[in-house]
Amino acid sequence: MNTAELFALSERYYLPVYRPRRIVLERGQGARVWDRDGREYVDFGAGIAVNALGHAHPALIAALTEQAGKLWHTSNVFVSEPPLRLAAALVEASGFAERVFFCNSGAEANEAAIKLVRKWAAAQGRAPERRVILSFRGSFHGRTLAAVTATAQPKYHEGFEPLPPGFRYSDFNDLAAAEAAMADGTVCAVLVEPVQGEGGVTPASDEFLQGLRALCDRHDALLVLDEIQCGMGRSGHLFACHGYGVVPDVVTLAKALGSGFPIGATLVGARAAQTMQFGAHGTTFGGNPLAAAVANAALRELSSPELLANVRRQSDALRAGIAALDAEFALFSEVRGRGLMLGAQLRPEHAGKAGEILDRCIDHGLLLLQAGPDVLRFVPALNLSDADRDEGMARLRAALAAFLSR
Ligand SMILES: Cc1ncc(COP(=O)(O)O)c(C=O)c1O
Repeated sequence: MNTAELFALSERYYLPVYRPRRIVLERGQGARVWDRDGREYVDFGAGIAVNALGHAHPALIAALTEQAGKLWHTSNVFVSEPPLRLAAALVEASGFAERVFFCNSGAEANEAAIKLVRKWAAAQGRAPERRVILSFRGSFHGRTLAAVTATAQPKYHEGFEPLPPGFRYSDFNDLAAAEAAMADGTVCAVLVEPVQGEGGVTPASDEFLQGLRALCDRHDALLVLDEIQCGMGRSGHLFACHGYGVVPDVVTLAKALGSGFPIGATLVGARAAQTMQFGAHGTTFGGNPLAAAVANAALRELSSPELLANVRRQSDALRAGIAALDAEFALFSEVRGRGLMLGAQLRPEHAGKAGEILDRCIDHGLLLLQAGPDVLRFVPALNLSDADRDEGMARLRAALAAFLSR
């Protein structure tokens, strides 16, 4: 089937919840991917911040194929070695966690965290109306009903009402507002992305995240960090909270944890590690040996000092490259982010044009992402090479020139 025929199938058979760009990707190698017409692209999106080690990484292929010949699935009434090793390695690397629950996606990791904080509050004798979860405008926590309710963006809620109760929203990076939102003592947990991803690639300030920790301590609430997009090395630290000097109670992970193979995790620190007891939660596929084998290999690579140093070096180089493009084209009002999670905010005169720019990028052999209509999002593989970075930036320059000469 050719590309047009495949698109006809997608239009005929899929629930139309996505609007895919009109290329059909077929294979990848490192930071390059090829479509079925043989065109090659530099990949600055890594899925959506998922393929943290690029495509077809040999250590991941070896782990997957070795495990594929042994055991795929057991059900969680039995234990197997790969997820046990992974749990121990994550606890060790996190520096705060005592226990781990594995699942298959980011939304599920947050769903487990939401259930856990409610159960924790219940165990303390708090009435249901005193089990409020505070989250922040611009956040994104996933599409299950509770995770989407925690996602404080009305566009994700519309038509899905009635939403579950017990969620409250406050402005991101506004500590005084969070303090006011917690003043009545009904908040049992604060859920926050250290770097907001979908909401526009906006890092929490040090004062905000550290201040939330202090507020949680003062009000006996749990601090839950959603590191699904910014975790696993992307910020330049294995855990984003390490770069903030903040010790959380719960961290959720997915995306880069399996570096392309689906797996999510909810890591729980001492205050709530005993909360979820037998029967409180569960999953059929979560922590299956295949996913865990790949994640073990990914974690080894992602925690290497060389890789984390590359994240910081490439981050500086990408920022410099984006600044040089701005000096030439006057397109951006701000470049922000942490590590290899960068957002270039379009100037007001180009507001709403991120999608159009991404189309020009595809024309010029570059896969880039947006974070809303006004922000270009750079989330390449964390082992990005200098050559792929330079080639990607050269293609971006050509795409921006084409966009401006339209
Ligand atoms: C910060 C954050 N949390 C949660 C999610 C949801 O993850 P998933 O799509 O795997 O359910 C995402 C996905 O983009 C995310 O960026």
